[in-house]
Amino acid sequence: MKYFLDSAKIDEIRYAYKNWGIDGVTTNPKHIKLSGKPFLAVLKELADEFEGIDFPISVEINPHLEKAEDMIIQGKQVAALSKNFVIKIPCTEQGLIAAKTLQEEGIDTNVTLVFSPCQAIQPGRMGAKFVSPFVGWKENSGEDCTQYIQDIVDIYAMYQFETEIIVAALRNGKQIADAAKAGADIVTCGFQVYQDSFYHPFTDYGLNVFRGAWDETETGDL
Ligand code: E4P
Repeated sequence: MKYFLDSAKIDEIRYAYKNWGIDGVTTNPKHIKLSGKPFLAVLKELADEFEGIDFPISVEINPHLEKAEDMIIQGKQVAALSKNFVIKIPCTEQGLIAAKTLQEEGIDTNVTLVFSPCQAIQPGRMGAKFVSPFVGWKENSGEDCTQYIQDIVDIYAMYQFETEIIVAALRNGKQIADAAKAGADIVTCGFQVYQDSFYHPFTDYGLNVFRGAWDETETGDL
């Protein structure tokens, strides 16, 4: 399963690429805002950083655009800035039309803001590069998402859809492990979620036990 970083902050992205081997990046307007930089400046930074490297970077088009034709125009403008850019498009009827057209013209798309197995079917049918079912937002409002992700994975396997499933908006290690167990292709999380997921208090406990033993052992010149 691939790990994507959900961020538009170049320092975080650099760190996670170098040290954790992340496989790609997903951004959205919230992340761009949090970077504190203008939209085009962030895109240029990302394009330069990963030029010549196979590293998909999802960039969301203007969320105010409602018509497919306008989404297609902007999708093409963004895609022209870097071979790495994947156009992130909302799962509305017009968004799906735009994604289908862009994908047919050779521009990779990531259909985002997906919240049900049924919504996930059309991006798979029409061959979007990625589909992004969100988990955190639903679980924050009390829904258990285990079955929802499993259903999408099962449907995609049954119909041999090639679209890769990015389980998105994850908030903790359990959700990462659940996505892995369901057979998702990719997870995308914020920097802190990954950092927390590498940690377990028993690892620290065990280290202290072993340090005590080490200190009471003759270790020679090592
Ligand atoms: C995924 O592609 C989205 O960018 C992301 O997960 C959105 O949710 P969040 O910013 O609330 O995590």
